[in-house]
Amino acid sequence: MSNFIANQKVHEQYGGVVPELASRAHMQNIVPVVDAAVSSAHINLSSVDAIAFTQAPGLIGSLLVGTQFAKSLSLALHKPLIAVHHMQAHVLANLIDENNKPDFPFLCLTVSGGHTQIVVANSPLDLKVIGETIDDAAGEAFDKTAKLLGLPYPGGPLIDKYAKEGNPYAFKFAEPQISELNFSFSGLKTSVLYFLQKQDTTFIQNNLNDLCASVQHTIISILLKKIQKAVKQTGIKNVCIAGGVSANSGLRKALTETGEQLGWRTFIPKFEYCTDNAAMIAITAYYKYLANDFVALDISPTARAEW
Ligand code: KG4
Ligand code: ZN
Repeated sequence: MSNFIANQKVHEQYGGVVPELASRAHMQNIVPVVDAAVSSAHINLSSVDAIAFTQAPGLIGSLLVGTQFAKSLSLALHKPLIAVHHMQAHVLANLIDENNKPDFPFLCLTVSGGHTQIVVANSPLDLKVIGETIDDAAGEAFDKTAKLLGLPYPGGPLIDKYAKEGNPYAFKFAEPQISELNFSFSGLKTSVLYFLQKQDTTFIQNNLNDLCASVQHTIISILLKKIQKAVKQTGIKNVCIAGGVSANSGLRKALTETGEQLGWRTFIPKFEYCTDNAAMIAITAYYKYLANDFVALDISPTARAEW
């Protein structure tokens, strides 16, 4: 009924997420954000069916703030408590739009600032990771190369913006050869770094659009090759995408076009459901609620969480 997000400006000032500042920002923002969400939905907090929160994975300080707040609300309002896995929620963001959602089973390429995964979804609560990054996530590849280009954090959206005006074939960066359905992105950052070190001081300024387009093209190519392989291996022809990097216009276009050529159905969530959002936590909680999947008040958050 509402999808409210606090601004993330604190991260911009420091060129990345500083864990201590992130948890303080959570403390400051959580009450105003809940108030705003409830009032923009035109409901009373007491009329909700359950309280859901992100239990894992993430920065422990931020997760603790959300967990404690959710537990307190659950206790005070006598509502059941639902623990949500952040990466499951990214995948299930594809189920928010009633008019454009995939049938099961579907494949999901989840590309965020912390994760890069290929997931098989057999049902909302039966998800299996069949491939993932062995080092940096796709979002980190965007953000770290953006930093090398002198762009502020998070650099992904800016690379996307400048890439629109650039030539994706202007510069060639090596793609890693990684087995199975796994990914690697740390080499890309290094090859961009070495390439830039050989150039003069005005090079970036004079070639920013082409540099962004070429970096973006390389990342998209790495992602698309693996999702094609996953389609071939599993025979599943419903392909979804999720996570912050799925907001990338080049990736959205390339995935749709490849799907059309190779006969898959492509599902891409609306922009507001790609980057971290509250609606994806709510849709996951909805399915857990239907399955009576509740947690007790002694639940703790975990920074890392295996599926
Ligand atoms: O899912 P998300 O909002 O947070 C995490 O769970 O990590 O993903 C954030 C990541 C950042 O690395 C950001 O640069 C990237 O998503 N991102 C993009 C775009 N929008 C956000 N990367 C490329 N193009 C975009 N348009
Ligand atoms: Zn996320």
